[in-house]
Amino acid sequence: MTSHGLRAAALLVGISALAAQAFAQEPTTPPDPPKFPAQSQPVFVGISDIMEYRALPQYQEPDWVTEKFVKAGKLPPLSERLPKEPLVFKSGNMPDGVGVYGDVMRHVIGGRPEGWNYIAGQSQGWGGIDIGMMECLTRLGPLFEVKADELKPMPNLAKSWEWSKDGHQLIMHLVEGAKWSDGVPFTSEDVMFYWDDAVVDPNVSPLNGATPDTFGGKDTKLEALDKYTIRWTFKDAFPEQFLYQMAYGTFCPGPAHMLKPKHPKYNKDMTYDQFKNAFPPEYMNWPVMGAWVPVEYRPDDIIVLRRNPYYWKVDDKGNQLPYLNEVHYKLSTWADRDVQAVAGTGDFSNLEQPENYVESLKKAADPNAPARLAFGARTIGYTLYPNLSANGWGSPDKRAEAIRQLNRNLDFRKAITYALDRQRLGEALVKGPFTAIYPGGLYAGSAYYDKASTVYYPYSVETAKAELEKAGLKDTDGNGIVNFPADTPGVGGQDVQIVLLINGDYQTDKSLAEGIIAMMERIGLRVVLDVQNSNTDQALLQGGKFDWAVWRNSEELATALKFTERLAPIGPQSTWTRRAGTDGTLDLLPFEEDMVKTVNAFTASRDSNERKELMKKYQKLYTENLWGIGLTQYPGALIVNKRFANIPLGTPIFLFNWAEDSIIRERVYVPKDKQKDYELFAETLPGKPGDKGPMK
Ligand code: GLA
Repeated sequence: MTSHGLRAAALLVGISALAAQAFAQEPTTPPDPPKFPAQSQPVFVGISDIMEYRALPQYQEPDWVTEKFVKAGKLPPLSERLPKEPLVFKSGNMPDGVGVYGDVMRHVIGGRPEGWNYIAGQSQGWGGIDIGMMECLTRLGPLFEVKADELKPMPNLAKSWEWSKDGHQLIMHLVEGAKWSDGVPFTSEDVMFYWDDAVVDPNVSPLNGATPDTFGGKDTKLEALDKYTIRWTFKDAFPEQFLYQMAYGTFCPGPAHMLKPKHPKYNKDMTYDQFKNAFPPEYMNWPVMGAWVPVEYRPDDIIVLRRNPYYWKVDDKGNQLPYLNEVHYKLSTWADRDVQAVAGTGDFSNLEQPENYVESLKKAADPNAPARLAFGARTIGYTLYPNLSANGWGSPDKRAEAIRQLNRNLDFRKAITYALDRQRLGEALVKGPFTAIYPGGLYAGSAYYDKASTVYYPYSVETAKAELEKAGLKDTDGNGIVNFPADTPGVGGQDVQIVLLINGDYQTDKSLAEGIIAMMERIGLRVVLDVQNSNTDQALLQGGKFDWAVWRNSEELATALKFTERLAPIGPQSTWTRRAGTDGTLDLLPFEEDMVKTVNAFTASRDSNERKELMKKYQKLYTENLWGIGLTQYPGALIVNKRFANIPLGTPIFLFNWAEDSIIRERVYVPKDKQKDYELFAETLPGKPGDKGPMK
């Protein structure tokens, strides 16, 4: 090269460095999401319009239950099986009124059951199977149709409660005389077993992650005062927020009469592992408080549940619920759930994988389509979580430890977020107005969202590269991938390689991961995938075994009210992506300390303006510091076969819970003239726990 050429090159380099600086993107606020109005609106009501607890003059059940079971002496009469005051659903709030018995809801799920011991961490395969089997102290799903000024958790197994004068104690009254599906009374013993021997016992991790942190930490106490009364004691006064966590999935007791004899505290011959696995999926007629009991399981084929003859809810004419005699869960894939629901070979889907939207919309638009499809608000969102722990959580090796040190560096997290072209990430899932740019934190549609408090680092490869350099990363060997600085313990000079943990059960998770890999490659970060099924993915995530993880968020970012403890690491195990190491301590970054204070203040406050301000502060802390790196947020559509009645208008697939809870399935029915012949075990009821199949 001539000296002239050299000078020109030097000049060019100088200019491009300058230009890069000049064009360095400053953080801003996120663009408004494209308009996407929900396709139908709920009819807003108060909780007392939906339900009450009351004894009715008489009760009815399907004729065949009375004829074949009660009259044959196999089952006590209905009045003896119901509680003193059953939960009564008011027909005025039922979209189509009082129902009739019969038919089946045929679900399709992508998960697989590990066993029935939910309270020790076993998944039943998701897709609403556990939601339908379990009942919890309070209930949230139907709150999507409750007026904003009357918003509070609905009573359920706890039929009422009152606070002490000073607000530190909460007394709850359980439904009196309710029974498990095998006829054993449900009492405070079930509640206390769940609390003492699952939530508080550090050797037990209930599915959905309940720990003492969920309810205020180690200062919180729960006691039974008698068979139907329990008393909470809290550190803060009036922490009404915890009533939200007493719903699905963090306060749904299991049957103590089944589980206690297998728990190591009561049975010295059992290990915790044996306790967890004591009731495999082959175990039939598992006792539940929910509307349906599992009676048949064929691996990779189907789980069938029959009506619970002891179900403790009725309509206001005294008809025992549920109306549907049977529910099916075909064991397939989540994508197949959409296909089958639209085709009419399945009955229900939460359309949540945008890759299927166009095809499903096209099919559902046909007036003769068997299913109804309605989009709701943008409540589905995905986030990339960098593992911020430097406390040995998940036992990282040298490479993983070095990645975590990078993750803890804000410049590095900025590099990641600037490198993400969120517009393209969203469009790769589906074109059109569905997906919106999501910087992280509370969703744009959440009641607590504040755009001005939301920090968004717009897409800019140049700025991302500059941030990487600030983080000390350079491509020292010229292979296109940046290298760890020479003095990094154990991996000095090596290529930076990041392992991204994802749930392989969903195409959407895989599509997003592919996009991330390509976008990181552009700034010299090599990302490789760790694809797992949903059960393993969750175990690895909660065990801290990841560098980065892409995760479909739970309710806290849509509502701020449900799973509030997951908003920040307020305790050693309150979140799923940031937990204490083996020494039990969290090594919080300064901004995380602020997030924790903010969330705790939110939980302790009853002043709605103060709570709004606190959530603004939270949003700023989260998005400015990139606690999680938001990817995309979009709406989902509820697909339900047209033969079903009592599906509430405007039910979102996800808000305070999944639609399987929100539509109140125990009230759903099929009018006589539309009923089909889908029952596999017609005119049978669940058998004794452990029996092979239903009772004829
Ligand atoms: C899975 C599905 C959701 C919903 C839930 C219910 O996560 O993807 O649509 O059905 O199960 O738990």
